[in-house]
Order: sequence, then C-alpha cells, then structure tokens
Amino acid sequence: MNKTISLLLISILCIQCNTKVKTLPVDKTHGLIVEKAMVVSAREEASKIGVSIMKQGGNAFDAMIATDLALLVSYPVAGNIGGGGFMVYRMKDGTTGSLDYREKAPIAATKDMYLDEDGTVNPVSSKIGALAVGVPGTIAGLFEVHKKFGSLPFEKLIDPAIKLASNGVVVTKNQAKYLNKNKQNFRQANKRIILLDNNWKAGDTIKYPKLAETLKRIKANGRDEFYKGKTATILIDQVQKLGGIMTLEDLANYEVKWRDPITFIYKKHKIISMPPPSSGGICMAQILKSIAPYNIKQYAHNSMEYIQLLVEAERRAYADRSYFLGDPDFVNIPTDSLMSEDYLNKRMSDFNWEKATKSSVLTRGSIPGYESDETTHYSIVDPFGNSLAVTTTLNAAYGSKVYVEDGGFFLNNEMDDFSAKPGEPNMYGLVGAKSNAIAPQKRMLSSMSPTIIETNGKLKMVLGSPGGSTIITSVMQNILNVLEYNMSMQESVTKPRFHHQWLPDNIKFETSFDTIVFNSLKKLGYSIDHSNSPIIGKVDAILIMPDGKLEGGADPRGDDTAVGF
Ligand code: GLY
Repeated sequence: MNKTISLLLISILCIQCNTKVKTLPVDKTHGLIVEKAMVVSAREEASKIGVSIMKQGGNAFDAMIATDLALLVSYPVAGNIGGGGFMVYRMKDGTTGSLDYREKAPIAATKDMYLDEDGTVNPVSSKIGALAVGVPGTIAGLFEVHKKFGSLPFEKLIDPAIKLASNGVVVTKNQAKYLNKNKQNFRQANKRIILLDNNWKAGDTIKYPKLAETLKRIKANGRDEFYKGKTATILIDQVQKLGGIMTLEDLANYEVKWRDPITFIYKKHKIISMPPPSSGGICMAQILKSIAPYNIKQYAHNSMEYIQLLVEAERRAYADRSYFLGDPDFVNIPTDSLMSEDYLNKRMSDFNWEKATKSSVLTRGSIPGYESDETTHYSIVDPFGNSLAVTTTLNAAYGSKVYVEDGGFFLNNEMDDFSAKPGEPNMYGLVGAKSNAIAPQKRMLSSMSPTIIETNGKLKMVLGSPGGSTIITSVMQNILNVLEYNMSMQESVTKPRFHHQWLPDNIKFETSFDTIVFNSLKKLGYSIDHSNSPIIGKVDAILIMPDGKLEGGADPRGDDTAVGF
C-alpha cells in the first residue's frame, strides 16, 4: 500500500472514530484561533490576500473583493468572474443585509430551450457548452460592494489577483485531480484544446497571462469594462462562436439587487441567511423550525434518531422548495406562510418515528391563497467587528467548461439551475415547477446559503458551503453541531454529513460516515446512498469564542485554509 493510500485510510478511520462518539461532551479539536480578523476560504493564497488587505486597514468588504478575485485565479473550478454569487453581511452595529449578484437568463432564453424535438430534456445543453451560460454577475457584485462599503481604492484590491495571475499559481493535488478529470469536458465545450487542457500534477505552476490582462483592463476602466467594454466583446464573441444566445445587450442590462435577508429565530439564536432567488434561507428556516420543538441534544450526534428527524424535516422542506420557490422578481413566494410555526407543525404532524415517510406520497404543503457540484464559500470577520459570508459559483466544476480564451476565464452553466421541464431533475437531482421555469432575464433558483448567526445580540458564527442542493443541509448540520452539540468550529466542519432532498427518496451519506446506523434506518424504510458521495459540502466558517477570539473551521475535504491575526 503506498503512502498516500495509507494516509487516506488513516484519515478516513479517524473521521469514523469521531462519528462513533455517542456521548457528550465531545472531544474538542480547534482550528486556527486569532484575536481580531480572519478569512477562511478554499485556497490559502486567497485567505492570505484577504487578511493582508485587513492588515493594511481595509474592512471585511475590501477583504471580500480581494479574496474573491484571488479565488478567481487560484481556484478556477469555482472562483470566478464568469459566474455569480450572494453575500450576507452583518455590520458591527448589528445591521444586516444581503446582495444578490446571481446570473440571469439571457433575453433570448425560452421556457423550452433545453427540450429536444420530442419534448425530452437534452442531457447536455444546459450543462456543457455556450447555451448553458447565464449572464454573469460577479464583477457587478464586487463593484457594488465597493461602492457601498469599500474603504480602500478598488485598484489596491485587484492588484494581488493581477500579480497572482501573472506570476502563476501552484497546483495542489486536489486541483490537479479536478483539472485532469475535466479534460474531456473542456474539449467538448470549447471544440479545441484550451490552456488548462494538460496533464497536471501537484507542484506545477499555472500562469494566466490573458486573465492578468483582463484584470488590468477592469482596474483601468471599472465595472463597465466587463459589461460594455473590450472584455464584454471578447466574452460575447466566444459565446456566440460556440452557439450561445447571450448578447452585448444582456451584459449591458445586468443589475445586482440588494435584498432583505431571511432572518428567523432558532431557539435563542438569530439566523441571518440568503433570501430568494436562493432557496437557502427559507429552506433552512423550515428545517430548523420544524425540528426546534425537539430536544435535539438527547439524541447522540449522527445517531439514527438524529438522522431521522433531520431527514423528515428536509424531505418536507425540499418538496416545498421545488413547488414554491423561484426568482422573487418573477414569482410570488409565500415566505411568511412557509416559515410559520403553524404551517411547519402541520407539515411535521405525520412524521412517524416508526416508519419513513415516502416522498412518492408527500407533496408540497398547502398554503392558503396560493419551488458539487462546485461552488465556493468564504467567511470573513474584520478587526472592526463587521462580518460577511459569500458563496459564489460557476455552478458545476469549471461551469459550462466554456473558457473565454482571450479573457482567460471560465463561464458558468447556471442555466441548469432552472427547471428545464416540470418534474425533470437537474444535475443535482432537484426537480422544479413553474416557479423556477426559464424566462428571459429571470434568475435561476439557487441553494447557496451564506449565513451569519447572532446570539444574545452578538456575532456568533459566519458560515457557508458549496455543494449544490446539499449546501443547505451542510450549513444546517454545522449550525446544529455548534449550537446543540457544543463542538468547536474545526471539529464541526470535519464531522461527516448526510443529506435528503425529497427526491430522489434516499439519504445520501458521505463515504466516511459510520455505517453503524444504516441497518436500523433501512428497517424503518429509509433507502441509503452511501457509495456515491465521497464528500458533501466544504464548509468554511468562523466561530466567535466566549472570550471574543475567532476560531476558524477550514474544511479538510479541500485545500481550505483559515488565516488571521
Ligand atoms: N449552482 C448551485 C446553486 O446555486 O445552488
């Protein structure tokens, strides 16, 4: 057995040992602890750049812009300017808000654009290639954040990414694996060999000269460079050459939206998360409020009862997600009703400890009067007490795989987050309905859940995750790990996770999950999917400890790193 395999087995066994802990208090293993400020992101380079901005006097929003652009270069699987994202923030005075810079459908998009002539959903066109691309929002988002909250000049925040793109980024083992795995997809989407189509190994350096030029133009010309300037022309030329429908008009019309976050109380904690077009905040509120009447602590962490309770609440929330949720600028969402205690108590009233509910007989609830793959998340707390959680994405790994050759960046395949046809699953197995049907300039429904928690009026936790439909349940399990099971942040993000999303009707478990509970769950009628999910989510989080220090939770499933001072 070679050294890598032995190390892998040891770490899997260690994680399994952790899941066997059945009594509280759990063993504490802490992540990085610092006094004042922290960034936890998917790459060490990006976390370091964000922190260096705060050391120069910048605030969390300055750090956000620099971290985001550093991820674009160092983590191209999900870091992006060709995609979009969401930010939830909490200022030091306790005011909160959220920014939606999610992609939009092009003006020429139609409801049936991914259906073949016989009415079946084309298995490729919403996922790979230029037709899958939604109008990107990231650059508009970063400039909007800077306009409202930035304290350092934008030029200073973009410079580290320009340097990184020019000097190159060292490939990690995980990155080499992702790049090599996607070679065939890159060829399919771009119809020719592209820069990143190579045999990569850990330790190689990739330089991005075209991306450095794009970033220099953005530095010189601002937001309009991406939406109306030379970069816009380069992007649209590439998309149209490959058969896409996006136009310069689509880029010129793109707008971000400031939105009121979803806020709700779970026991004594205030949870602040992303509103539609993300399903994250509402779904998480539904699940947490459904389980709040139970004394969760009496069930051992990851025990059969714990899994059962969460799964039954998740099943009901995801059934509602599929029917009611979509872009709030296009559909009327009964948010208050969906999150009301009365409604949720009724939804859970047929939950039976003796027998699994079947998704085939469970549909959405009745509201009177009336929807990895790869994404990335980072959490920031600054020395002034401001905090923010950002989840940003190209959707799948490297998005549509379309690489804007002259611009040096990938484009998203966010169009797959729409419901191409009612009842037909997307790449996450999520089924949707009319609320999330495709329409020109509509935003596709998301699961991204950047979240901040406040306890007794004070900042408690900042967190989020990639992972498509599993984002919501990954974030929620980490909330429970800390609030109910008193885990440290690092211990929490390391714990094995599980997920249920109504359809398909099975519980997805990480392969590291202790199998001990599987037989008991099967006896109750639950079906288990254990082999297909090596990992569920990659949670990057910050916990404010009782003495005010910050503890980072950097997910060991990736190259994620906490940096702070
Ligand atoms: N593209 C994944 C999501 O937004 O949920």
